[in-house]
Amino acid sequence: MLTKRLGIDPLAGELPASLETGHVRIDRDHRQLLALLGELRRICRDPGGLPDCATCSADQQLACEGRLIVLLGDLFSCILEHFAGEELLMRDAQMQLAEGEHYAAHIEDHAAIAQKVQELVARLDIVHTVERIRELDGLLARWVANHIEMHDDLLVRWLAKRGIPGAAV
Ligand SMILES: [Fe+2]
Ligand SMILES: [Fe+2]
Repeated sequence: MLTKRLGIDPLAGELPASLETGHVRIDRDHRQLLALLGELRRICRDPGGLPDCATCSADQQLACEGRLIVLLGDLFSCILEHFAGEELLMRDAQMQLAEGEHYAAHIEDHAAIAQKVQELVARLDIVHTVERIRELDGLLARWVANHIEMHDDLLVRWLAKRGIPGAAV
């Protein structure tokens, strides 16, 4: 799975040091996200190998889909709260005035991630749960690797330069 190729081990429950931004609340949220990624990978007995869910019993299919739906609910509330928190930090620090392009790109990426999760929810189907799990794994792994490096790190460094509490110096 993509998480392995990116060197991220969600089952270890820790962010790789390279993904620590130094902002206490942001890093805590990212750890929670990684824990959800770990939970996602425990839903199916073979998320990397099964083409679909047709070889599993109807009871198993129901159980897996139910677990994925619960996880998606947790994930969606986790990401919306997290994105809103980062966006509030940016607005409070008036980042839109000093770094308008970064500010807009960061918010756009949040919206794109939330939209992709919503699209995935709309495509849930009991015999294709394993494919949705793979897609979600890829989406979350790319977010953890790319978004944090590209946007969150920059935000925290920018806040730190202005001496905003909670950010690394
Ligand atoms: Fe972000
Ligand atoms: Fe973030």
